[in-house]
Amino acid sequence: MWSRRAFLRATGALGASAVAAKAADLEPILTASAVVADRSPDDVAQDEFYWREIQQAFSLDRTLINLNNGHHSPAPRIVQEALKRYLDYENQDPVYYAGLINRNIERVRRALAAEFGCDAEELAITRNASESLQIAQDGLDLKAGDEIITTNQDYPRMLTTWDQRARRDKITVTRLQFPVPTTQQDLYERFERAVTPQTKLLHFCHITNLTGQLFPVQRLSHMARERGIVTIVDGAHAAAHFPFKLRDLECDYYGTSLHKWLCAPVGNGFLYVRKDSIARTWPLQASTAAQGKDIRKFEEIGTSPAATHAALAEALAFHQAIGVERKAARLRYLTLRWANALKSEPRIKIHSSLEPGQTWGLATVGIDGIDSRALAQYLMDKHRIIIVGLVGGTPPGQVYDYQGLRVTPNIYTTLEEIDTFVGAMREAIKNGITT
Ligand SMILES: Cc1ncc(COP(=O)(O)O)c(C=O)c1O
Repeated sequence: MWSRRAFLRATGALGASAVAAKAADLEPILTASAVVADRSPDDVAQDEFYWREIQQAFSLDRTLINLNNGHHSPAPRIVQEALKRYLDYENQDPVYYAGLINRNIERVRRALAAEFGCDAEELAITRNASESLQIAQDGLDLKAGDEIITTNQDYPRMLTTWDQRARRDKITVTRLQFPVPTTQQDLYERFERAVTPQTKLLHFCHITNLTGQLFPVQRLSHMARERGIVTIVDGAHAAAHFPFKLRDLECDYYGTSLHKWLCAPVGNGFLYVRKDSIARTWPLQASTAAQGKDIRKFEEIGTSPAATHAALAEALAFHQAIGVERKAARLRYLTLRWANALKSEPRIKIHSSLEPGQTWGLATVGIDGIDSRALAQYLMDKHRIIIVGLVGGTPPGQVYDYQGLRVTPNIYTTLEEIDTFVGAMREAIKNGITT
């Protein structure tokens, strides 16, 4: 453990008030990270003194407990302030200043590419995962009779996109079902078995939004490539959540949102397109023929705020000041804290794997006999806990046969907040949820 004294030494004996005054910049976090640099992420995950620095970097309403960061997360102060600064700057003379800001966006592209492990010429900055994935889904030439294979637990908007293509282009959409939690081998075999001579494309999540089920992305991409099949990976919940590099995944397309786990301002995402796939992919909004091989053709969306993407630079700096390994370890620590406390309770059903390397900050838990949406409402009404209740859907949306609360803390979540959730769940088991 590192002590407050060690921290003060490391910061050159800064007093507590000086630390508070500096809370809006990165220095306290860089210093705290430097102090713990020689310790393992799992060890630092348990160091409340370290995580207090992170908690203080956000301006939050702590009268609420937010366990729905998976939808989109608050940005830390440094990011929010950058966004406001860029907005004000842009507003002085929007055409002129947005032009100036946009000239710097190439630096953001390079920084994102370096962080996520691809060539900058393969990364388009978008508004969110929906846009990124739909560029890939609608941008490929497919003809009547071509088959795409996805799963029943892929994201509803992405399933809707495929259903629309089926109506428009008469392609066949096959949706696979799978139990949760399941193994990488099981998921691999389900896809491998489903492939037919008509299969042109596989579309699956890196981790799902429902239970955080992790997919064997590299193996599936490899298997698909050997058969001339394209892969689209939905990484909405993966980027900046746990460590990976795009080049190791070997997929053709990867779409993500950056307002979830990167804590970037809302309206940020990216689309990775493997270099040899750029030319054959039509952008959602038209580009010139000359832009055919240029990744920037996917960014031709008309007038939009320059500030939103510019503030990505701060979001990345904040993320890197902590480090994705430390972040992942802390998210896992928070998840295991509630999951281990609840798992032996009667009627508790955890739908996510708790094995190492499978789950970080997104896991799902139900109470037998209690409707999960009603439970979420009860937690809000009685305990001011914001959480999402999942109740198995029906076609054309996601189809699954379980219920649960999707629990997504974030790096600013305190142990007290997690323990309050545990207490509220125990109370619901014991007394029911009538308020
Ligand atoms: C798995 C998955 N894919 C895609 C999306 C779409 O993300 P966005 O709404 O940021 O476009 C989400 C959003 O929660 C998601 O969970």
